Amino acid sequence: MNRGIVIQLPDQLKLLIRWMKSRDVPYIIDMERAIFPSPWSAESFLYRLYERSYNISLIGVIGKELVSYAVSYVVHDELHFGNLAVDQKHRSINIGEALLLTSLQIGKESNCRVVHLEVRENNQPAIRLYQKHGFEIVGVRENYYTDEKEDALLMSRIIN
Ligand SMILES: CC(C)(COP(=O)(O)OP(=O)(O)OC[C@H]1O[C@@H](n2cnc3c(N)ncnc32)[C@H](O)[C@@H]1OP(=O)(O)O)[C@@H](O)C(=O)NCCC(=O)NCCS
Repeated sequence: MNRGIVIQLPDQLKLLIRWMKSRDVPYIIDMERAIFPSPWSAESFLYRLYERSYNISLIGVIGKELVSYAVSYVVHDELHFGNLAVDQKHRSINIGEALLLTSLQIGKESNCRVVHLEVRENNQPAIRLYQKHGFEIVGVRENYYTDEKEDALLMSRIIN
């Protein structure tokens, strides 16, 4: 993983998945603001890069274009999957799946036993993606997204 891994996508596209670097953060922030109603700040991403020992921050690149990112972190034997996004014009060609599965593999290699995440209750594309890969809904966090007063579904999966 040190130099990244290349995944073959449909239509001869090649996706490079590699560790996030601080110079990627401005591009990530542009995507984050375009996608999420309550976007993470640049500092949130940078903090996770400094704390590299227990954070798994990945990006997906096609050519020179950043098209996706995923951030998760390890707490003891648990992986918490905190953020995943794919650029609007590159969706539905398996990129989200590729970053999710790569994060889970790294978590597994870091001796994580279980992975948890929160997802907006109305976010069907993401819920379907997680269910496809074995996550189950194990709880609801009421008003988790305070700005929009939206509940989160808590989803979990055993990985090891
Ligand atoms: C959720 C998201 C990351 C999915 O990424 P993606 O690259 O488009 O998804 P993939 O092409 O890898 O799809 C993998 C699986 O996810 C599910 N899925 C993805 N998009 C879907 C959609 N629009 N409707 C229903 N299911 C969908 C399907 O199960 C799909 O498998 P299939 O192709 O065999 O049907 C993307 O839609 C996104 O960035 N959304 C905005 C940010 C977000 O909601 N992030 C998640 C926060 S918890």
